[in-house]
Amino acid sequence: MRAWRALARAQGKTVGFVPTMGALHDGHISLVRRSLQENDHTILSIFVNPTQFAPHEDLASYPRTLAGDLKLLTSISLPTPDAAHTEPPSSLPPSSADRAAPSPPRSVSAIFLPSVNTMYPSGVSQVQAQQRGTFVEVAGFSHQMEGRTRPTFFRGVATVCTKLFNAVEPDRAYFGQKDLQQALLLRRMCRDLLLSHPAPERLHIVPTARAADGLALSSRNAYLSPAERGYATTLQQALRAAQSVWLSSLGREASLSHARALVEDARVRASEAGVTLKLDYVEMNDPESFDVVPEETTPGDGRPVILSGALWVGRTRLIDNLILGDE
Ligand code: PAJ
Repeated sequence: MRAWRALARAQGKTVGFVPTMGALHDGHISLVRRSLQENDHTILSIFVNPTQFAPHEDLASYPRTLAGDLKLLTSISLPTPDAAHTEPPSSLPPSSADRAAPSPPRSVSAIFLPSVNTMYPSGVSQVQAQQRGTFVEVAGFSHQMEGRTRPTFFRGVATVCTKLFNAVEPDRAYFGQKDLQQALLLRRMCRDLLLSHPAPERLHIVPTARAADGLALSSRNAYLSPAERGYATTLQQALRAAQSVWLSSLGREASLSHARALVEDARVRASEAGVTLKLDYVEMNDPESFDVVPEETTPGDGRPVILSGALWVGRTRLIDNLILGDE
């Protein structure tokens, strides 16, 4: 990895980085495409990071589909920006520079697949009290929203991303809005730790890729049975419903109650079909502090608000969010 990175630097090439846990889908690919557009090289990592899973979570069953992932990545390419711009205006004869062979299309330059031992040389444990070695904690920003039900999650994410950033030293890094709190927290971490690879303003957040029915794409969607898949859009529908109440300035609680009522209706219908739905949370939070926004906040304040939630569909936990004020 270091030799590859040193060569890219010596050649003056920019490096874009997409960290993942594999089981790649079109959401991951949208990050890859953005990186291909903006960098000479794109590198993707696949590492299922043990420390961001609590002991009762799905580390052992997390989908691992390396052969399919590699096949998918080798099929992605974009025309190079310079190739796209060599078309001469039609009224002019092509110059010799225009006739030069177009650059080959850009595709992923490297895939980083570190082992657990490489990433955790001091050893690894999913139990925080038993962990040894060096960890990164973004204090004050890891206990709200996703951190409330997953209190050790962001410590694992911040730690592994610091290590990945140190290994890859990317000029730019790409994260999905699907995991908005994760991306914002990592941007803060880059700022707090004075990282330059990536610099905080070069940690980019890419919009959530969705299935045709609105479900946010996720590696965990693979766990859903066909019957569960039918109810998986409930969270997105509830967030949209809360958004429309919010836009009529009825306030935080009216909006969230509407979302909860919609989930409750779906829960009753789902249970008749043998599917268990359980709302973990639906909340409105400030994108800077992650704290719950005050009840008196309205769309007219002009500040963006994160509307997010988590829903259990059977044994699968799905998350989603919308940014209010970004319509
Ligand atoms: P993973 O769940 O594999 O996601 C890798 C990246 O893809 C994250 O930035 C995530 O937000 C993005 N992503 C996932 N689904 C998306 C969708 N539907 N639309 C747009 N982007 C999407 O997130 C992780 O892995 C890990 O926590 C990681 C950052 C790799 C650290 O271990």
